[in-house]
Amino acid sequence: MYQIIDGKRISQEIKDELKEKVAAMKAEGVERCLAVIQVGSDPASSVYVNNKKKACEYIGIKSLSYELPEETTEAELLELIGSLNAREDVNGILVQLPVPEHIDEDKVLLAIAPQKDVDGFHPVNVGNLSIGRPGYVSCTPAGVIQLLKRSGIEIAGRECVVLGRSNIVGKPMAMLLLRENGTVTVCHSRTKDLKEITRRADILVVAVGKPKLVDADYVKEGAVVIDVGIHRNENNKLCGDVDFDSVAPHVSAITPVPGGVGPMTIAMLMNNCVEGCR
Ligand code: GUN
Repeated sequence: MYQIIDGKRISQEIKDELKEKVAAMKAEGVERCLAVIQVGSDPASSVYVNNKKKACEYIGIKSLSYELPEETTEAELLELIGSLNAREDVNGILVQLPVPEHIDEDKVLLAIAPQKDVDGFHPVNVGNLSIGRPGYVSCTPAGVIQLLKRSGIEIAGRECVVLGRSNIVGKPMAMLLLRENGTVTVCHSRTKDLKEITRRADILVVAVGKPKLVDADYVKEGAVVIDVGIHRNENNKLCGDVDFDSVAPHVSAITPVPGGVGPMTIAMLMNNCVEGCR
C-alpha cells in the first residue's frame, strides 16, 4: 500500500506555525508586509494573486496589492518596484508572472532588491542557493523538500531524479536535493534513455508540464514520486505530469494532483515573507 503525501494538510500545518510566529513577532513590534503586483488581468494569475493575499490575511502578514492595467509600461513597473525597494515597511515584493509581452521579465526580476525577493527568482538568490549561502529559495521546490521531510522521507544518500530543468522548479529543485545530500540527476526533453534514468530514482520529482507523461514504466518499485505538474484534462478535471492510477500501485509514496505540491507553493511563499532571507 502506498502513502499519499497530503500537501493540503502539510501546507496548513506550515501556515498555522507561521501564524503563531507572526503573532509573537507582532507582540515584539515587528510587522511583515508583502507587496503583490499584477500587470494585466490574466484570469489564472488573478486566482493565484488572490490566494496569496488570502494566505497573508490568514497568517497576519499585511499585503499591499497593485493591480496595474495591461498597458502599464516597463518604466512604470520598474519605478513602482524601485519605490517599494526603498520602503522600510515593505519586506517582500512579488511580481506575478507572466508579465505582458512588452515588458522584459528579466529586467523586472533583476529590479527587485534581492533582500525583498520572496519568490527567490533574483540571480543573487539563485546564486546563493547554488553555493550554499543563505538567501530566498524558489517556493515550489522548497515546498517539495518540506513535503518529503514532513512525511519522514530520507533524502541523504538516495538517488534523486528531477525531470524538468526550468529556472523556477527543475534547477532549484536539483540544488535543494543536493543540499540535502541526495545524489541528483536532472533529465530533460533531450535526455536519451529517459526511462532508464527515471527508473533508477528512489525519489522522482516530475516538473515537465506534460499531462500524464510519467506512467508505471518510468518508475522503480517502491520509489517516492512527487508530481509538480498541474493541468486540466478533456473533462475539465485537474491532473498532473504523472499518470497517478498507473504509477501509484508501484510506489511507496506519491503526491496527488490536486492537493499535493500545489498548496505548498503559497505556504513556502508565506514562510519566505515571515522568515526573511535566512
Ligand atoms: N507565476 C506562476 N508561478 C509563479 C510564482 O511562483 N511566482 C510568481 N511571481 N509568478 C508566478
